[in-house]
Amino acid sequence: MSHGWNERRPAGRVAYVDGRYVRHGDAGVHIEDRGLQLGDSVYEVCLVSSGHLMDESEHLDRLERSLREIEVAMPMPRGPLALVMREVVRRNGVCDGLLYLQVTRGAVRRDHPIPSSQPRPTLMLTARGMDVDGLTRRKEQGIAAITRPDERWARRDIKTTQLLANLLAKTEARKAGAYEALLVDDDGFITEGSSMNAWIVDGEGRLVTRSLTHEILPGVTRRVILDAAAEGQLPVVERSFTPEDVLTAREAFVSAATGVLPVITLNGRKIGDGKAGPVTRRVQELYGRLAEKRALDRA
Ligand code: PDD
Repeated sequence: MSHGWNERRPAGRVAYVDGRYVRHGDAGVHIEDRGLQLGDSVYEVCLVSSGHLMDESEHLDRLERSLREIEVAMPMPRGPLALVMREVVRRNGVCDGLLYLQVTRGAVRRDHPIPSSQPRPTLMLTARGMDVDGLTRRKEQGIAAITRPDERWARRDIKTTQLLANLLAKTEARKAGAYEALLVDDDGFITEGSSMNAWIVDGEGRLVTRSLTHEILPGVTRRVILDAAAEGQLPVVERSFTPEDVLTAREAFVSAATGVLPVITLNGRKIGDGKAGPVTRRVQELYGRLAEKRALDRA
């Protein structure tokens, strides 16, 4: 049966949990895992493209940073972890898809403070194919977005699995027939999307994205776009912008591991001419080329 998901081996999914490769359906964690009970955990999502993990070392850098911020040790050294990541992709036969990695503080009797007993962190990974056709269509045709208040906590730079505010905003977007919600802070500025960084192209053709503080996630794709823009001599300004700025911008787009998606409407109103614009196309091209080159250099 064709379901549009790109997996070489649709059956027999395998997960990695705490040192073992197990059948996906049998994989699980302890009932008192702090990730499960307290959201005491961080994660990464990496794109798998033609069997290669994209932006692998940038994801590992951010994982190390998130873990440091919540005072959890790396569950294993970086080199072996990179091998496990690749092995999970391989065992699941994923050609184009996503790798998911989560590290929790571990399993221990439930109590709020960070336990002094230093439980062993729980490491879990899964991989799956994705709807490549749907993604390609969104990359080409663009997406609709809505605005929602940013109701998250104040340390959005940590890639925590505490995603309730994000998923509620995303659900509001989907109910409104849009794909993404751009989150607006108390001062009226957009922080980022519910699961993507936000960008506009201003009247002078410059890329504009919010600067890195505790208020947004330091997106790996954002980072690589900045490098790609520098190589492609696209001017960039890091500053905050409002929903009104989006509506008067030439173009807007969002970025995440799944790629660069043009945003063509906001709250039902057209951005620019309501189509994916040339600068966004150029960013897609420059980003794709640089990410692919880095992946092949590391392979
Ligand atoms: N989301 N901002 C938020 C809040 C995110 O959750 C994400 C990623 C991004 C983009 O980061 P990156 O370029 O590193 O993917 C920005 C992932 C994909 C997710 O939660 O599934």
